[in-house]
Amino acid sequence: MRFYLTTAIDYVNSRPHLGTAYEKITADVIARYKRLCGIDTYFLMGNDEHSQNVYRRALEQGLDPLAYCDQMEREFRAVWAQLDLSFDDFIRTTEPRHRAAVQELAQTCFDNGDIYEGVYEGWYCVSCEAFKQEKDLLDGKCPLHPTLSPEWIREKNYFFRLSRYRDALLAHFRSTPTFLQPEMRRNEMLRLLESGLEDISVSRAGQHWGIPLPFAPDNVVYVWFDALINYAAAVGYGTDEARFSVWWPADLHIVGKDITRFHTVVWPAMLMSAGLALPAAVFGHGWVHFGGQRMSKSLGTSLDPSDVARRLGPDSLRLYLVKELSYGSDGDFTWERYEERYNVDLANNLGNLVSRVAAMAEKYRGLRLQPVGAGGRLAALAGTVLDRYRASMDSLALHDGAAAAFQLVDATNEYIAETAPWTLAKNTANTARLDEALFAAAEAVRVAAVLLRPIMPASAAEILRRVGDTTPIDALRLEQHGRWRAEGTREIVKGPPLWPRVEEAGPAKEITVEQPATTPAPAEEPRITIDEFMKVDLRVAKVLEAEAIPKSKKLLKLKVDTGRDQRTIVAGIAEAYPPERLVGRTVVIVANLQPATLMGVESNGMVLAGSPDGGQPILVGFDQDVTPGARVR
Ligand code: MSP
Repeated sequence: MRFYLTTAIDYVNSRPHLGTAYEKITADVIARYKRLCGIDTYFLMGNDEHSQNVYRRALEQGLDPLAYCDQMEREFRAVWAQLDLSFDDFIRTTEPRHRAAVQELAQTCFDNGDIYEGVYEGWYCVSCEAFKQEKDLLDGKCPLHPTLSPEWIREKNYFFRLSRYRDALLAHFRSTPTFLQPEMRRNEMLRLLESGLEDISVSRAGQHWGIPLPFAPDNVVYVWFDALINYAAAVGYGTDEARFSVWWPADLHIVGKDITRFHTVVWPAMLMSAGLALPAAVFGHGWVHFGGQRMSKSLGTSLDPSDVARRLGPDSLRLYLVKELSYGSDGDFTWERYEERYNVDLANNLGNLVSRVAAMAEKYRGLRLQPVGAGGRLAALAGTVLDRYRASMDSLALHDGAAAAFQLVDATNEYIAETAPWTLAKNTANTARLDEALFAAAEAVRVAAVLLRPIMPASAAEILRRVGDTTPIDALRLEQHGRWRAEGTREIVKGPPLWPRVEEAGPAKEITVEQPATTPAPAEEPRITIDEFMKVDLRVAKVLEAEAIPKSKKLLKLKVDTGRDQRTIVAGIAEAYPPERLVGRTVVIVANLQPATLMGVESNGMVLAGSPDGGQPILVGFDQDVTPGARVR
């Protein structure tokens, strides 16, 4: 059995943010789940490079566009590695294999009479890379990019006869209800199809950054027509027909709700025109917001997934995104909620359970547990949980799959409280009951770890090691290892707490930027480790704007360029620095502080300054030029 799974390919005009990372993490969970089920899985991710925004960004940086895309590929791959994403292939739209596929598909559609010449006149949103109708705009702006003005373009274009496929698409939607999930997105698309389809422009004139149309090489292929073909290109369309016939059609495209139209209307019509099979299913997930706001670089509401993963570990982030957000709907990320869930699910619940099982195994049985009995009600529950987990994961209710695993964790904690091994241990008449309780608790943890393996890969592997499961990690199979096993001695392994509690509110929110003074630590204060220090992301930044904050003597509102984003930081340096002296100045900031609101202004970081006792702050600086974004360590 095979499973071909893809995600949207990302525009590389900026680094991944938590929203784009969410999509990739959830797809990774699905890929890992399929592998756990023993299915031969091909998981594709990639970068979408032929966008005008990418081209402009490269020029802004004085780089050749391809060199810029190479650099961004490295950045993307580094973030994806940090999040433990297990893709099998990573495609870039500037690769020869992709170009060959795009040209072949465009030529085939042309030969089949579905591409014709015309003139396009209308609005274009460069950020969406989409043609917009007047009715799509809100006060003349694209609703998704309200800070930008759409461009009016009039150019000779080639059009794709999308209208020809409307009836076939409607019939497909009706005959295959699982084609677009979840249901609410399917209804949206059905309404759109019922209202009729217009032909779409599939080329851009006068541009060089893109793939030339084979039958009209002065035109480049429109970025969406180009990008969608990546899914076929990666498995050999246009370059390796034998391979293509093995993997095509795709089983599942994971994409955001904003781009389901491209994937369930435009893409299938292109495939129909080229005589290719349609993907089995498209899942349109919801959006992750940050503190209730749409994540956007330009609005300063973007979160870097590396920063989040660095704070409490990649698996904690993966669990939060999968368990706390109902897959398919929008959800929210706040630091407060994230820490709260971390403490509840990981520090207090799962982490504590793993530690308790090991501590009791050591104390009462020298770390060696023997099977006694069939596991009783905990074993029965594990069976029910496995069924719930499987049904949830198969239907892409990933949040419920995670909840199922935690149902077993909760029940195991309750089981320990009820069987009270510490009481049983007081009387040798209870030896068998103690053995049974200890083994059952360890076995339940083992089963829960197998279920959590797709969601928290490294942590699950570590838990399995601690409860004495010696199966090579990639050989784990749900059917075999996700079931209760009442046999085999277990050699339990002790280890440090997996998830130490974090203190809520946290020092980050208390940052008194008004007094950047950091009083020298008293000599007896405990020292921190290098790892603890490295958690503080110190970076070089450049001040772009500075202004006083009304009614505050000490605070200034700064807009700084961190090399990755532009953000607002409130700094308590007004008494020593007039705003105009700061613009253009290089400063050092703590980049990964939680946001804090000071005098009504949200501060996203802290500017470092020396703070002599009783004196005024003196900004930290360098004796040579350093570019914004450089790390300080
Ligand atoms: N390049 C196109 C996709 C082409 S696929 C043939 C694109 N790129 S994107 O970088 O803008 O977005 C990549 C994916 O991230 C999309 O599926 C998009 O919906 C998703 N997300 C962007 N912001 C998001 C959130 N805030 N939350 C969740 N997903 C988000 O579109």
